[in-house]
Amino acid sequence: MDLDFSQIVPYIPYITEGIWVTLKFVSVSLIIGLALGIVLSVMKISRFKLLRWSADIYTSIFRGTPLILQLSLFYFAPPQFGIPISAYVAGVLAFGLNSSAYVSEIIRAGIEAVDKGQKEAAMALGVSNRQMMINIILPQAFKNILPALFNEFINLTKESAIVSTIAVTDLMRRAQIVNAQLHRYFETLLFIGLIYYLLVMGLTVIGRLLERRLKRGD
Ligand code: ARG
Repeated sequence: MDLDFSQIVPYIPYITEGIWVTLKFVSVSLIIGLALGIVLSVMKISRFKLLRWSADIYTSIFRGTPLILQLSLFYFAPPQFGIPISAYVAGVLAFGLNSSAYVSEIIRAGIEAVDKGQKEAAMALGVSNRQMMINIILPQAFKNILPALFNEFINLTKESAIVSTIAVTDLMRRAQIVNAQLHRYFETLLFIGLIYYLLVMGLTVIGRLLERRLKRGD
């Protein structure tokens, strides 16, 4: 077997710089996904049919087509209409909008799972709809959906590797660039595989800790 890790050593700083690119990319996408996901979930439980429909159609489109297709569309289509867009912005938009579709479903389910008695009690006490949502329903929903949300963060982290297809120099792209020079595919891919794994393990641990902390409040 021809294995030689020493050849990739000089490229390690270049590859590990990609950790920050990946982390930054995932964090920004996550924030967009969360913010928009909250809005969409509120639309989904709204009294107004039009709002519910729009949010449902949005979700069905973003969940019903491959993320890599959405990513390519955001990157390659705007220039066709004279709108310049960077790979990073296209990536963050595609990932953020895609994630919001998933997040909105997670939050909607979480809100609907909060005991009805909570809502009835709030209404009996004359709490406004808005206040009830912000102070009573959402905090309880949040606790229940935390594991599902972290699952989504983990998915985003792993899926982020496809931004390499539009040349964002994330971890995956850097490994490809190094591979093109060294042809040490096994060593390089194993190395970034380990990094992705550690990132996901980190998120898992953070999720567990947060969960435990929130449970302690019960
Ligand atoms: N590979 C799947 C797709 O292309 C993953 C999408 C996952 N997105 C997410 N936000 N969890 O549709």
